[in-house]
Amino acid sequence: MPKSPTSNRKLLDWVQQWTATLQPARVHWCDGSDAEYQLLCDLMVATGTLTRLSPEKRPNSFYARSDPGDVARVEDRTFICTASKDDAGPTNNWRDPAEMRATLLAKFGGAMRGRTLYVIPFSMGPIGSPIAKIGVQLTDSPYVVANMRIMARIGAPVLAALGDGEFIPCVHSVGHPLPRGKRDVPWPCDAEHKYIVHFPESREIWSYGSGYGGNALLGKKCLALRIASFAGRQEGWMAEHMLILGLTSPAGKTYYVAAAFPSACGKTNLAMLVPTLPGWQVRTVGDDIAWMRPGEDGRLYAINPEAGFFGVAPGTNRKSNFNAMATLERDCIFTNVALTDDGDVWWEDMTDEAPDHLTDWRGNSWMPGSGSPAAHPNARYTAPAGACPVIDAEWESPRGVPISAFVFGGRRASVVPLVHQAFSWEHGVLMGATSASETTAAAAGAVGKLRRDPFAMLPFCGYNMADYFGHWLAMGARLGPNAPKIFTVNWFRKDERGKFLWPGFGENSRVLAWICERLEGGGKSRETPIGWVPTDDGLALEGVKLPEGALAELLRVDRGEWKTEVAGAREYFAQFGARLPAPLTAELDSLERRLSAP
Ligand code: OXD
Ligand code: MN
Repeated sequence: MPKSPTSNRKLLDWVQQWTATLQPARVHWCDGSDAEYQLLCDLMVATGTLTRLSPEKRPNSFYARSDPGDVARVEDRTFICTASKDDAGPTNNWRDPAEMRATLLAKFGGAMRGRTLYVIPFSMGPIGSPIAKIGVQLTDSPYVVANMRIMARIGAPVLAALGDGEFIPCVHSVGHPLPRGKRDVPWPCDAEHKYIVHFPESREIWSYGSGYGGNALLGKKCLALRIASFAGRQEGWMAEHMLILGLTSPAGKTYYVAAAFPSACGKTNLAMLVPTLPGWQVRTVGDDIAWMRPGEDGRLYAINPEAGFFGVAPGTNRKSNFNAMATLERDCIFTNVALTDDGDVWWEDMTDEAPDHLTDWRGNSWMPGSGSPAAHPNARYTAPAGACPVIDAEWESPRGVPISAFVFGGRRASVVPLVHQAFSWEHGVLMGATSASETTAAAAGAVGKLRRDPFAMLPFCGYNMADYFGHWLAMGARLGPNAPKIFTVNWFRKDERGKFLWPGFGENSRVLAWICERLEGGGKSRETPIGWVPTDDGLALEGVKLPEGALAELLRVDRGEWKTEVAGAREYFAQFGARLPAPLTAELDSLERRLSAP
């Protein structure tokens, strides 16, 4: 690609201005070609950032080991900088935009010395889709370029589609300049000074210090969720932390479902599920993010803005996610998994038995019984979505797929039944707004603590969460009878000995089938104070072996436990003060009344 392959004045000026600040040794405009990808990978193999995996085992695939201080999204270093603190809301880290710009400009000054500045034009969503958005990321990390090439559409076709139009500017540096004479390290970062910063009002992203995942691949969490959620409210659409799947019934009817679960709670497994229920088929549209707009027919249409999967590797195996394992056979990048002695990758639960010897994610020799996991719990794969054997035929459709149902979920050891359906859109918004989940390793911090995670968007909502609830209510009013029906699921309920009651994975198809029956006005159910729950014979369970009493426990709604939930929700809502939409309080009051009714 020539040095300045665009005549977009704003883009050229922006790159020039940042080049002056960042002071890179050279500037490379990414064309997104395969040749460029191969060159970058070769370069990273030479510098020790990547290891090429055995071509016999995993063709065209690479392995990276991060700095131990840079292994996950850093929520406490993620900032929303709006002019008014209230517009970021109580659930976000707010900083004054001018102060944050000054702080970061000091960090960015000379941050790319000795390095290459890569300019990555990227499209979130199929190029040219009316729902897609174009961003341009500046980065000094070839690892980020390689991952962005899998996760988004990048390069020359994006610049052509951009023409003289608007783009979302994204600046990223690992914060590890190389003054003359300084030697590089395989995973440069500034682990102690990370800043993942969003200016939603001017639609800009500045990220400093981390090279890992959502901190650094700025199209994903930063643009496609935090900036997009803000833009969606202004423009009348939705950006959600949701997988999208197509479910085809034995009668041949396809229903598209979008489901919100917190990070590392099984979105990818659900998106690629192999149904155990005979005659049903699942196809994948996306595993992490959905952008949705009302279409001309009044229904809600969704696209997957991404082009790849950035999935959690540990726990992924042929039983838990056959299709992910097939997707990972070639053309992937693995980060912080373990390396086998014959040049392949391994992670916990990939196989029933661990290999006799591995090199762990820290680069140490590892043997079973070593006492620490071989792969980091947030080890990831980056894989092209098109390689998934069950990718939906419509996954790149520019208009998107029509959504019939929303599903909310999380990890709840108790209280929340296997599945229940909201009585109305407003009730469903209450379900989303009050959902809670036990924390996982996807973000730095404690694991297994119950926290409220409204719509699975707690770390990803780019504005005041109360206004976000209001936006959901407004979208429901706009969609009217075409609004998707809303459900909550919980695959993670446990018995009193701490064992999971529900087998999960492919068996979740039985719950999805009930949801589809409900969409058609069927699906045997009973009314409970919290919503519609399947009757004991409501789910198709032939062939599933559940322990004695497990089904009753899975479907049990305990009024006392739910009253405690309501009290917890009230406490949670209090932080939003007068900004909380009144219909949500009304829904909570109704729920409480139903729980207290004889
Ligand atoms: C992700 C996450 O990477 O949610 O998708 O952390
Ligand atoms: Mn996610």
